[in-house]
Amino acid sequence: MRLDGKIGIVTAAASGMGRAGAIRFAREGAAVGVVDIDQPGVDAVVAEITAAGGRALGLVGDLREDEFARGVVRRTANAFGGLDFVWNHVGHPGPAAVEGIDMADFEIAIDLNLRTVLVTTEAAIPEMRARGGGSLLYTASTSGIQGSAFSPIYSMAKFGIVGFVRSLAKRLAPEIRVNAVCPGPIDTPMLRVFVARPDQQRTAGQDKETLVRLRGQQNPMGRTGKPEEIANAALFLISDEASFVSGAALPVDGASTA
Ligand SMILES: NC(=O)c1ccc[n+]([C@@H]2O[C@H](COP(=O)([O-])OP(=O)(O)OC[C@H]3O[C@@H](n4cnc5c(N)ncnc54)[C@H](O)[C@@H]3O)[C@@H](O)[C@H]2O)c1
Repeated sequence: MRLDGKIGIVTAAASGMGRAGAIRFAREGAAVGVVDIDQPGVDAVVAEITAAGGRALGLVGDLREDEFARGVVRRTANAFGGLDFVWNHVGHPGPAAVEGIDMADFEIAIDLNLRTVLVTTEAAIPEMRARGGGSLLYTASTSGIQGSAFSPIYSMAKFGIVGFVRSLAKRLAPEIRVNAVCPGPIDTPMLRVFVARPDQQRTAGQDKETLVRLRGQQNPMGRTGKPEEIANAALFLISDEASFVSGAALPVDGASTA
């Protein structure tokens, strides 16, 4: 097992890639704090992990609240006896607008893409140091390494994640490795938000499932990614197999940014 005896946290773990990661990490031997605002979703992930003989702790709350974001670290460490990794996966599409932007929408995007990630990281560093080291993983995006005409605020935030990751990797070496995974279009509920945005001429009148298929066809691999394909990359980056990998922003995007 590739995470045998490890203790970690996955945020936004009730759905999509976070869900796939939490389940996969537990199958690889990790005890996992399963963090999300969606109570039934968290319960389902915890039940799936424990039914398979794994260890999981459900942590339900709003990651925009600093106390909750900080508390998930302490609660996971207390429950399992320490902390080895955090996958800061939570994020938000943000507003499409720049001209006429509603600043309340901007704040939600910054809170969920950046602020909560900082708060959780701050709490996690001493826990990892107490264990002699650890692994921090963040979800950026292909929009964190190339511009996005229809999601500039999202891109602003995800470039911020990549900058944070590269900086922290230098600052926390050698004890704590710090990396980002940069997904391309992955078939999750959040992708339905993005596909409804692009140019109205092409998308007018198309239902979201058709738009998801079209988005996949634009990719060099001719399809969208599966949440499990991101979980596989996340598993590698978190595990000791990536012992000399730090400061990376790994595209997992079917060659779309190649
Ligand atoms: N889906 C894609 O195509 C894609 C591509 C690149 C990057 N991403 C990034 O992946 C991450 C999540 O995406 P996904 O596609 O797995 O999402 P998803 O839509 O499957 O799940 C998002 C989860 O976040 C949870 N959540 C939302 N607000 C929250 C809050 N305030 N507190 C706690 N939990 C909250 C939701 O309940 C949900 O379970 C984000 O960082 C996103 O930017 C997604």
